[in-house]
Amino acid sequence: MKINSILKSISFFLAVFLILSCGDKEEVKKYVIGFSQCNSAEPWREAMNKEMMKEAENYPEIELLISDGNQDNSKQVADIENFLVREIDLLIVSPNEAQPLTAIVEKVYNQGIAVIVLDRKILSEKYTTFIGADNVIIGEAAGKYAAELLNGKGKIIEIWGLKGSTPAQERHDGFIKGLAGNPGIEIIYEQDGAWLRRKGREIMENALQRFSNIDLVYAHNDPMAMGAYLAAQNAGRENEIYFLGIDALPGAEGGVQAVVNNQLEATFLYPTGGSLAIKTAVKILNNQETEKNITLETETIDSSNAEKYL
Ligand code: FRU
Repeated sequence: MKINSILKSISFFLAVFLILSCGDKEEVKKYVIGFSQCNSAEPWREAMNKEMMKEAENYPEIELLISDGNQDNSKQVADIENFLVREIDLLIVSPNEAQPLTAIVEKVYNQGIAVIVLDRKILSEKYTTFIGADNVIIGEAAGKYAAELLNGKGKIIEIWGLKGSTPAQERHDGFIKGLAGNPGIEIIYEQDGAWLRRKGREIMENALQRFSNIDLVYAHNDPMAMGAYLAAQNAGRENEIYFLGIDALPGAEGGVQAVVNNQLEATFLYPTGGSLAIKTAVKILNNQETEKNITLETETIDSSNAEKYL
């Protein structure tokens, strides 16, 4: 009898405790942030997601949802529509391509939901904050670097990122700017590699067949530069060509290691901005002022400093 009533009161207190602690958890999660990632498969995007999740752990009041657009504009639009249904408090978006994502981002912003655009831009000013490195400056640094390597004379293959995404356009424009004043340098072949290593390799295989003389490959990211390098290596021509990439991800598969391995001549740091995006989101949710554009720093990484970035 006595034991029975003791057991009863224990289970009563346990139930009350459980109800209270569950209630607490829900109260703690005050804000939902939806991050619409254009594609989570690439290493650079994986690094961005990880940075965000790690940073979000510092703020028990936020819940971070990440969707994967699979490099497909309509999938990404649908992901953002879903976030609206889930009544997110803030949207972070890294758009696959600028034009197809602009209307949906404007729709979110027009509903009074704050929007952080990360790394790739949209074709509108209807967002709260943009965070990313300046891709024109990066492209220009690559152009100047190429001109110096080639002593003002040579034939270049340019492997573009997805043409409808702003970093590709800006990295190209910057590169042309950086090459200015070097009439002896010529871009003999340029193709859209869609940011993919596999395509970088295919484009380079074609280029190697068509041109017996190639001095330098400028790829808009490291995976495509490495794809091109492997194609050249396969053809036994890797030592006659310089390879430049962009991203400078650390780690065994990253661009910095490829510089250390003497596969890439140089890479240009393109920070993901993941943790800053979360910090900025928290600021916005707490009604603190943020700048409209936050520019992340870049860095030229070659054999002179690569070890430091590993
Ligand atoms: C990953 C990526 C990076 C590149 C960036 C540009 O999807 O292709 O390699 O620097 O996107 O937005």
